[in-house]
Amino acid sequence: MPFTLLDENDRVLLFQGQTVTEHFLKRLKQRGLTTVIAEIVEEIQEEAAKEDVSFETKVKTLSCLEDTMENLVKGCSVSLEPLEENVTSILEEVRAHEELVIPIVQLKRHDDYTFTHSLNVAIIALFIGRFIGLEEEELVRLGLGALLHDLGKLKIPQEILRKPTTLNQSEWQVVKQHPLIAKQLLDEQKGVEDLVKFVPLEHHERLDKSGYPLHLDPWEIHLFARIVAVADVYEALTSERPYRKALPLTEVVEYLMGNAGYKLDDIVVRTFVSRLSPYQVGDVVRLSDGREAVVSRLNPVLPFRPYVQVRTPDGKGGFVVEEIDLARSLTLTIVEELSLKSRVILPE
Ligand SMILES: [Fe+2]
Repeated sequence: MPFTLLDENDRVLLFQGQTVTEHFLKRLKQRGLTTVIAEIVEEIQEEAAKEDVSFETKVKTLSCLEDTMENLVKGCSVSLEPLEENVTSILEEVRAHEELVIPIVQLKRHDDYTFTHSLNVAIIALFIGRFIGLEEEELVRLGLGALLHDLGKLKIPQEILRKPTTLNQSEWQVVKQHPLIAKQLLDEQKGVEDLVKFVPLEHHERLDKSGYPLHLDPWEIHLFARIVAVADVYEALTSERPYRKALPLTEVVEYLMGNAGYKLDDIVVRTFVSRLSPYQVGDVVRLSDGREAVVSRLNPVLPFRPYVQVRTPDGKGGFVVEEIDLARSLTLTIVEELSLKSRVILPE
């Protein structure tokens, strides 16, 4: 069972799903750990195994986000500058993805869902914003708004947010207040630009006016809020929640496409879906011929047909590694995602 590895002070050493690089192995070794269970990715070329946004940037942003949101909720005077610096760091890394494929964001911690959900939504929103062609300044405002989109939830009782069953009518009314609460908290601060407030206030508005809290007409919903609405729905549906399992990617894409132009912005959904990669480098999959393979490179044009590596015994006790371009091997498809575990010995 994969888990997040914490040190004695509950600080995160490794997140569930984090790639175990040489750097982390050394760090774990220094802390006296001798073995760790990890997924096999050793055959993957290092340059191909890049993440959407680095672990360090995610951890730094999460800690800044937690401080900022908690101080905003307490009513302290807060500067958004440190958070803005983190958005700029995320943007630099998002820009490094020449292949224009959105990897599935892996950083998940179920104990503080609001924060990790907000970070994941911001990363996805920045990818979409960049694909749509927003200017640098706009992207920074979009990123800030996305990071703070669920700020109001910090004022909603935990027993409602974590309720494992469907919310009743009155509980649902309480949850629906969170966009207005966020707007109010940001209004109380000096110097927060209106562009940052559109997302927290409007991310649950829908084009058919079925959203909340203001039931805006479609032309009134800010583009940033339309972008975050798509990122938010995607992130929520692909995450496991107390009341339901994570939905498979194909179902989530179906849902987004089904609501494009109806509840969600058509161009935003199409931009997002066309760049979405269903696989990460390092995913272990089963091919239609029964062989197990490891995703070695993504294909931005045909994201459902990445490059994979298969290992074939060489007859001398070793293996020959062969890379297959699934875009060219049309008789082969991925039929299943597997989770292969191996014991990795930490270096001396
Ligand atoms: Fe929300």
